[in-house]
Amino acid sequence: MIEVIIDCDPGVDDAIALMVALSSTALDLKAITTVAGNVPLALTQANARKLCTLMGREDVPVYAGCPRPLVRSPITAEAIHGITGLEGATLPEPTVPLQAQHGVAYLMDALTQSPRPITLATLGPLTNLAAAVVQCPDILTHVTEVVMMGGGIAQGNVTPVAEFNLYADPHAARVVFEAGVPITLISLDVTHQVLTTPDRLARIRALGNPVSTIAADLLTYYGNRDREILGLPGAPLHDPCVIAYLLQPNLFSGYSAQVTVETDSPLTLGQTVVNRRTLPPHCPPVNVIDQVDADGVYALILQHLASP
Ligand code: RIB
Ligand code: CA
Repeated sequence: MIEVIIDCDPGVDDAIALMVALSSTALDLKAITTVAGNVPLALTQANARKLCTLMGREDVPVYAGCPRPLVRSPITAEAIHGITGLEGATLPEPTVPLQAQHGVAYLMDALTQSPRPITLATLGPLTNLAAAVVQCPDILTHVTEVVMMGGGIAQGNVTPVAEFNLYADPHAARVVFEAGVPITLISLDVTHQVLTTPDRLARIRALGNPVSTIAADLLTYYGNRDREILGLPGAPLHDPCVIAYLLQPNLFSGYSAQVTVETDSPLTLGQTVVNRRTLPPHCPPVNVIDQVDADGVYALILQHLASP
């Protein structure tokens, strides 16, 4: 069992990722921490609790973290995810309470007190993790690795060079990338290979259970803008790639490189700059994923949605 904490901003693709994680018997999901991102924090935390209720996982505690980025002004992505963050489907009202402790405080306590290192799966802006690291750098000695959805080497999705999670809080991303914690980076270069084509969407809908039907309804709405702007045959399924990597890393491959996040330039704010040349000794390389077996990822998603 992989001991993991998921930090997220549900968000439709976060929701699919949580459906897989919450139905997996291979993950020991300690908690879900939520952050402002796709939609404001009040909605991301409520959406996470709705998903735990939908999946019958009232055992997984949900925490609310930071309601805004460290420095820059907040941005959201309702155009992609809808005003609720889970547009296209109606989920049950949450039966799980929001934990009283702040998500950042939880991260510091959970990591410090864990008898074994924990994997962090980040699906949204990195505000919570950065705030925890700034307050208590030693927590990173209790982190196996951070598996992160973020960045774009060839292109961005909010600006020509910046991806949403890093553009929404570039300063938090810089704190995390400079902290020296092992990182596996799953960027747009990978997730744009994992497209929700009509055939794949039809196979999800054909499963015909309440969870898969909600997933299909969410995905039907999701990514229309991505599809239109990027001209892709289907919406990129970003966050589930993180969970798929945890469950079947063999579906992915990549290379080691130094990754730096731009935090000053108005033109390239949030850009991930990848240096594959000789790495400076002090900087641990990032495991930059660039290849994925997309059919394998969808088979994994279908397997979990078939028996939630
Ligand atoms: O750029 C895609 C990422 O930003 C995904 O995690 C999506 O949910 C949004 O958070
Ligand atoms: Ca997300």
